[in-house]
Amino acid sequence: MSAESGARLRALSERAEARLDAVLPAADDTPERLHQAMRHAVLGGGKRLRPLLVYAAGSALGAELDRLDAGACAVELIHAYSLVHDDLPAMDDDDLRRGRPTVHVAFDEATAILAGDALQSLAYSVLAGAPLPAEVRVSMLACLAESAGAPGMCGGQAIDVEAVGRELDLAALKAMHARKTGALIRAAVRLGALAAGAGPQRLGHLDHYASALGLAFQIKDDLLDVESDSATLGKTAGKDAAANKPTYVAALGLDGARRALDAELQSLHRALSRLDCDTSLLATLGEMAAQRSH
Ligand code: IPE
Ligand code: IPE
Ligand code: MG
Ligand code: MG
Ligand code: MG
Repeated sequence: MSAESGARLRALSERAEARLDAVLPAADDTPERLHQAMRHAVLGGGKRLRPLLVYAAGSALGAELDRLDAGACAVELIHAYSLVHDDLPAMDDDDLRRGRPTVHVAFDEATAILAGDALQSLAYSVLAGAPLPAEVRVSMLACLAESAGAPGMCGGQAIDVEAVGRELDLAALKAMHARKTGALIRAAVRLGALAAGAGPQRLGHLDHYASALGLAFQIKDDLLDVESDSATLGKTAGKDAAANKPTYVAALGLDGARRALDAELQSLHRALSRLDCDTSLLATLGEMAAQRSH
């Protein structure tokens, strides 16, 4: 990563952190335990990949950052909610997230369910209030709703839960990853592009980039679960094999998963090469997704 890209991404990540803090509900408006649980779920950790993608895609197309804040916050709020629910005993039953106890461990299950629900509602209300023309806001709301719901993340999580202990062929595994993780990553890029007023051709190239990135990101997540340790990951390593999860490593082995990751990385760079704007931040985020340590 160039020093310039690194500095820009650090600044954008700090911006996302500050905006997320600002959109979370005030203490005097929210029951104390729910309020604390929502803050625990969102703040103080996380790579902020999805907000960074909103900012990188939108600014590549010339949008001011003020137009991108709402999309950046909204997609990260959905992501944070998805993690809270993913960690619940009824799903992955994890007690460590971002190096801290998961929300249901730090609080309790009912509070974790409600905090997830409230974060999801907040995401839509942040987008609805974005300083953008009404028709742009509606297209962004539709994009986020589709990617978070049954056609996207929730549908992918449902396939994941049903597939435990069963073998998925590669096509089914790819389709599951594209939904459970890919959908929100695609939404992040699209939200940035919509806020920037992108036309169909740029939206298409960006979507190819984001689809490859989303897949690469979850393949790396599967690899890290095997190759890394809990202290580095900030979440429990080795959980996928222990829980018999359908992963790229289970389907293809370590080398096969690494090759699949490389193929997606090449594909995302190809998609970027078709865009007629400065894609250096998007390229850096692609590399980070593939080379990250946690
Ligand atoms: C973890 O996402 C869950 C997946 C979709 C693989 P991230 O690795 O982006 O988690 P944070 O936000 O950085 O903690
Ligand atoms: C979760 O995938 C994807 C979500 C929709 C939250 P994982 O279950 O592999 O994510 P981690 O490994 O717990 O972060
Ligand atoms: Mg899971
Ligand atoms: Mg999990
Ligand atoms: Mg995982």
